[in-house]
Amino acid sequence: MQTGKAIQHAARLIREGKLVAFPTETVYGLGANAFNPDAVANIFRLKERPSFDPLIVHVANLEQAASLSKHSDDRIRLLAEKFWPGPLTIVVEKNERVPDIVTSGLNTVGIRMPDHPLALRLISEAQTPIAAPSANKFGRISPTRAEHVANQLPDVPYIIDGGPTTVGIESSVIRLHDDGFVMLRPGAVSSEEIKKVIPESHIRIEKEDEFHSPGQIKSHYSPQKSMFLGISDFNDSDLSNGGLIAWGTPEYASKFKKVEYLSKTRNSEEAAINLFNALHTMEAADVEFIIADTVPEEGIGIAIMDRLKKAAYRHRNNAS
Ligand code: TXA
Ligand code: MG
Repeated sequence: MQTGKAIQHAARLIREGKLVAFPTETVYGLGANAFNPDAVANIFRLKERPSFDPLIVHVANLEQAASLSKHSDDRIRLLAEKFWPGPLTIVVEKNERVPDIVTSGLNTVGIRMPDHPLALRLISEAQTPIAAPSANKFGRISPTRAEHVANQLPDVPYIIDGGPTTVGIESSVIRLHDDGFVMLRPGAVSSEEIKKVIPESHIRIEKEDEFHSPGQIKSHYSPQKSMFLGISDFNDSDLSNGGLIAWGTPEYASKFKKVEYLSKTRNSEEAAINLFNALHTMEAADVEFIIADTVPEEGIGIAIMDRLKKAAYRHRNNAS
């Protein structure tokens, strides 16, 4: 379908209370009209997502953002000027228009303006903010291509195909507090960059027992086979039935049955773009287990390691 027609069709579906999967610069989202609780309930059903995990609401302009938050907050404008459209979700107090099902009953809402022309056109033509989690089954690997969505969610009524996404890792999620902000999920936008925009803010020290972001659980992004992080424990093992997700071009790659390269030149932005596709490819490949190289935890490498640790968590802890 021609792009204009595809957007019109998808926008009509959103207005009718149906679900649409759409590309953003980070990962594909599974969207519904944020002000329609029945439509939003279908997101949870299709994803098999537990009701405690709140959704991000996507907007195309600052008026829509203001229509969701309880107070006007100058920091939203400052952050928006610098980072929107882009991979930053800002969690603020919500107003009464936002249905409880969107925020899992929390009094806060996560807002983001995605940096993707098709997403922005969809939201504009639908004339409503769109609530959307990543378009994968709960706990599974996030989708960076339309075919990843189609494989995991065959029942989604419509997928807008925008090709591979250009950032590849979900947005950074921050919670604004009166006295600063908390990074709830690392992404392409770092705490340091945020501090430059709102210099009076500081990162609050998080207490272990504070349950800031209900969706941030230890096991996530899991391939349906054993996955391990780092080659060091496997030095003397037979790797010929394994898959390697490689950082750079390590010598030991030749010992594996299959190799997916995150970035042959060790470029972390490129690695972020390739990460989820590498996991999807290994999940489908004829390999018995997956070993992923670790990447340096700086810049977007922090977010890459966050995702890799969660993807390997089940097997590190012998759960299934
Ligand atoms: O890049 C992204 O953010 C993608 C694209 C589609 O925009 N979306 C995405 O959504 O990753 P999802 O649902 O897979 O992850 C949203 C995360 C969850 O960990 C959730 O718990 C957290 O954001 N979150 C959403 N609203 C929140 C709130 N009010 N308070 C705390 N955490 C919140
Ligand atoms: Mg997700």
